[in-house]
Amino acid sequence: MPHYLKPLDATQQPAWQALRAQRGQMQTFNLREAFAADPQRFQRYSLNSGGLFLDYSKNLIDARSHALLVELAEQMNLRQAIEQLFAGAPLNASENRPALHTALRRPIGEQVMVNGVDVMPEVHRVLGQMTELVQRIHNGLWRGFTEKPITDVVNIGIGGSFLGPQLVSEALLPFAQRGVRCHYLANIDGSEFHELTTGLRAETTLFIVSSKSFGTLETLKNAQAARRWVLAQGARESDLHRHFIAVSSNRQAAVAFGIAEENIFPMWDWVGGRYSLWSAIGLPIALAIGMGNFKELLSGAYQMDQHFQSAPFAENMPVLLGLLGVWYSDFWDAHSHAILPYDHHLRNFNQHLQQLDMESNGKRVRQDGSPVSCGTGPVIWGGVGCNGQHAYHQLLHQGTRLIPADFIVPVTSYNPLADHHQWLYANCLSQSQALMRGKTHAEAEAELRAQGLSEEEVQRLAPHKAIPGNRPSNTLVLERVSPQRLGALIALYEHKVFVQSVIWGINAFDQWGVELGKELGKNLYGRLTGLEQSPAEDGSTQGLIEFFRARHRG
Ligand code: F6P
Repeated sequence: MPHYLKPLDATQQPAWQALRAQRGQMQTFNLREAFAADPQRFQRYSLNSGGLFLDYSKNLIDARSHALLVELAEQMNLRQAIEQLFAGAPLNASENRPALHTALRRPIGEQVMVNGVDVMPEVHRVLGQMTELVQRIHNGLWRGFTEKPITDVVNIGIGGSFLGPQLVSEALLPFAQRGVRCHYLANIDGSEFHELTTGLRAETTLFIVSSKSFGTLETLKNAQAARRWVLAQGARESDLHRHFIAVSSNRQAAVAFGIAEENIFPMWDWVGGRYSLWSAIGLPIALAIGMGNFKELLSGAYQMDQHFQSAPFAENMPVLLGLLGVWYSDFWDAHSHAILPYDHHLRNFNQHLQQLDMESNGKRVRQDGSPVSCGTGPVIWGGVGCNGQHAYHQLLHQGTRLIPADFIVPVTSYNPLADHHQWLYANCLSQSQALMRGKTHAEAEAELRAQGLSEEEVQRLAPHKAIPGNRPSNTLVLERVSPQRLGALIALYEHKVFVQSVIWGINAFDQWGVELGKELGKNLYGRLTGLEQSPAEDGSTQGLIEFFRARHRG
């Protein structure tokens, strides 16, 4: 039996036990002192790959914990798991599928077999199909029902059929092609539909119905609303093929919905939704930034794939980030992880990472169904710097919880404005430095005395002004947010999540937990609308149904 089906229990590995002892030894470990004692600490704990520079020196690690974490990865057979991932082994065992998003960024000529068939020719055929569509739209050859060229593209999709494309098309705004604007419609909330369509004209709008399953409620309801909206603006049924295309692995359902056969771009069940921006689900990205830039994005991810496959674990960026996450979750009782991009264009990075990480590693049983015996995926949260500094960073600095953070910052801005970028970069560094160094009680006292305060006031205020420090962070520096570097950055986090899933022995590629709410939603819709008369299973739900119904009666 392949060992991903019968994963080892990480907590029973010798390295885990040694890490537990090591954690005890590190009770008094202090980052300030570690830097003072080792002038090479920055060089020792930083690396460069795929145009990304990672400084992980501000972590609660020493040489022994670093070595033990790497040993744990070896003992959990991570090397073999990486090979299996890239080779297309059915690691998504509960759905009996491989997770081959990495095939989507491989160059022509490479081979990846799924059920005895090389999928690479099909991957590149679809890239060709995307190129043709993008060219037709950019050159004004794709016309709406009044023969006017398309000016606006609306991606209707949710989850992975939304977050990745939205992140990338916004992050690469400086690469936007002129002539076509891209919009996103995700939620079933009519206000979102109303707000979006208010600024659009149906005759020059193309909708991409983006759904791997073509069965997602929000997407189908929005697609139906869009169809009614286009028809209401004068189009005939026979014009709809000019305004609707689809990306889906469920061709039959897309055709049944009314999408013309030739307007359907394929997806495959071996690509998970949250890993799909590299496929035709990325069409809005290609339309926003052009196919050349889309291919650069793929090549950046491919570079990270190669690094992940070949670098020794002690110098492997995704492996180290993954192991550090395990270290904090399972040995330092950290429950969340902050992502803090210091770049306006990366402001939606968190949302993509929330799905990527939490839908992948928010699991409580291992691949073989046995319960995990340690903590798994943390809550991912955060937001764009400097805004967070004036909102939630207070808790990072002085709260009672340990929250590791990733700072992400480009060296160069696309919009240099006086000395703003220098200030932005300085703020990013000052935050990680403040988290790491803190301010001792003695320093706080000295500061207050220097201000001429009475000793009584000094003693009253010092506890409030002291900051514990010793709070860990990584800093990821990009030369700039280019398609290539962004591709590497996203792939880095994909692989980090995979590394953690291997240590925890869980399946990172299914998401059964989201299904219950969907099923219950159907019943509740019936009860809200009166199609179903029986009361809800519990008093709270029934009470809330009655509250809604009372206000919608006559
Ligand atoms: O409900 C969760 C989910 O299945 C995600 O995993 C997925 O990215 C999203 O819904 C959208 O799914 P689809 O692309 O099939 O519409």
